[in-house]
Amino acid sequence: MMSTETTNSTTEATAPAWDDALLRNPHAVADKRGRVQRMFAAIAPSYDLNNRLHSLWMDESWRKKAVKLAEVGPSDRVVDVACGTGDLTLRFAQALSNAANAGQGRQYRVVPPRDQVLGIDFTYEMLPLARQKAMTRPVKGVGGSHTLASLAQFACGDATALPLPDASADVASIAFGIRNVADPSAAVREFFRILRPGGRLLILEFSLPTNAVLRAFYNFYFRKILPRTATLISGDRTGAYKYLPESVNTFIGREQMMTMMREAGFTQVEQHPMTFGVCVCYRGVKN
Ligand SMILES: C[S@@+](CC[C@H](N)C(=O)[O-])C[C@H]1O[C@@H](n2cnc3c(N)ncnc32)[C@H](O)[C@@H]1O
Repeated sequence: MMSTETTNSTTEATAPAWDDALLRNPHAVADKRGRVQRMFAAIAPSYDLNNRLHSLWMDESWRKKAVKLAEVGPSDRVVDVACGTGDLTLRFAQALSNAANAGQGRQYRVVPPRDQVLGIDFTYEMLPLARQKAMTRPVKGVGGSHTLASLAQFACGDATALPLPDASADVASIAFGIRNVADPSAAVREFFRILRPGGRLLILEFSLPTNAVLRAFYNFYFRKILPRTATLISGDRTGAYKYLPESVNTFIGREQMMTMMREAGFTQVEQHPMTFGVCVCYRGVKN
């Protein structure tokens, strides 16, 4: 199930990945994959802090919504792709435990088996952070000393070539990852391949407010303020926080995302905009 884990050297991880010319359309850059990987390796240690601060703690409510829309059942197998430091993966692990224990008397509470939730990311540096987080978070509602590490595993792998068999998952998710994948449609086809009939795909991704005034204000914050403060906090030299707003502004729109999902075979495709449209949760079902 696990693919070979790759590492980046420190020199590679701190060299600039993006410049102004590349950022005119980062999605068209030929070696986007390598640049994205290098960038995330560099910012991994401060990733959570920057996420929380710059989303004003809203990122957690966006992930919560994605988990709710997934309608996780007690025996479901969940694969969270581009898991990063594991925030969404661990939310799924807790949701699975909640589903397994719904309606159970206290003495019958169970911790579901470990291979039901898998987080996958192609940036090796993210994985130890995710595992560490899992080890320090208790499973809520079951008592004892169980941590989310007893529910979730993390492995290295690429969204466009998942190390999983066909029809092996009930839920596939990707949060703030699809925009970073070099070939997003190939990834969406992979999610379709690994899902069982009835399986749900959840894609969380940044978008832009549809209201022009709000969009202008948001882009001022996103392009002028966030890159400075986030770079200061992370000490990043790869250009990660300049890439963030430009990759959102140049990424495919909501309708195109839903078309991509339908073309991969998903039905009942929906979009759920949140926070004035700054973030959207897309949902599709494999029949
Ligand atoms: C913005 S982070 C999101 C992390 C996490 N899902 C969250 O909600 O915070 C994007 C992640 O996507 C990963 N990523 C980008 N392209 C990928 C690919 N082709 N395959 C697997 N992971 C990828 C990066 O390594 C990074 O950890």
